[in-house]
Amino acid sequence: MLELRDVKVSYGAVEAVRGVSITARPGTTTAILGANGAGKSSLLRVISGIAPLRGGSIIIDSRDVSKIPAERRAKLGLAHAMEGRRLFRQLTVEENLRLAWSFGSRKAPVAEAVDDIYQRFPILEEKAKVQAGYLSGGQQQMVILSCATIRQPSYLLLDEPSLGLAPIIVTQIYEFITGYARRSGATVIIAEQMASLALRVSDHGYVLRRGRIVLEGESRKLLADGIANALSASYL
Ligand SMILES: Nc1ncnc2c1ncn2[C@@H]1O[C@H](COP(=O)(O)OP(=O)(O)OP(=O)(O)O)[C@@H](O)[C@H]1O
Ligand SMILES: [Mg+2]
Repeated sequence: MLELRDVKVSYGAVEAVRGVSITARPGTTTAILGANGAGKSSLLRVISGIAPLRGGSIIIDSRDVSKIPAERRAKLGLAHAMEGRRLFRQLTVEENLRLAWSFGSRKAPVAEAVDDIYQRFPILEEKAKVQAGYLSGGQQQMVILSCATIRQPSYLLLDEPSLGLAPIIVTQIYEFITGYARRSGATVIIAEQMASLALRVSDHGYVLRRGRIVLEGESRKLLADGIANALSASYL
């Protein structure tokens, strides 16, 4: 289980996260929703340890990791796929997967891990020898997700995995993510602007506005309450 208690993040005078408390449970997907600048990315960055924690604490499996550096959090089983499509564009799809597998603690042997990815995303097997930079946006996102999950992290943080993708690809990507949480028992947290989409696939949702949580609840309930529409309107 991952818990944030009164977490604060600031960059100089800019207070990006102002006292946020969140609980994310194993085998479930938690959505962090909010408009541009709400503090979603800052929240994910402080969990993985790449943004400085200015107040509060971060607890993973009952252990306070607030003072543990990012590399050691990764070794504790935390993976973070950042905003934007970050992969090695000059390396092939398979080289990207093998490289991601080679970092940190891992479970399955490399051939098995890569095969498992190809079964879930057959298009990546077709493109195995192609440089990742030549793939379509959706295919690149599949590589990024595959790299983030290839070592079977217990905690997976995903920053706007749907950004700029066609709806059909987004559905496929989200099915993969929620499927990963369910079958591996991992704790998954997604930052997302597209509220209705994220609430349809997640278990629990939190809405951030200017660094504070203004709403939280079961995703199903938030959807039924029409929160997604209200949010979309308030983003504009
Ligand atoms: N490295 C930084 N230095 C200074 N200010 C920053 C930095 N990163 C983020 N901010 C500011 O912190 C606030 C929260 O930004 P953050 O990137 O967390 O928002 P977000 O919800 O992820 O937005 P988006 O949906 O646009 O990605 C914004 O006001 C932003 O300008
Ligand atoms: Mg962001």
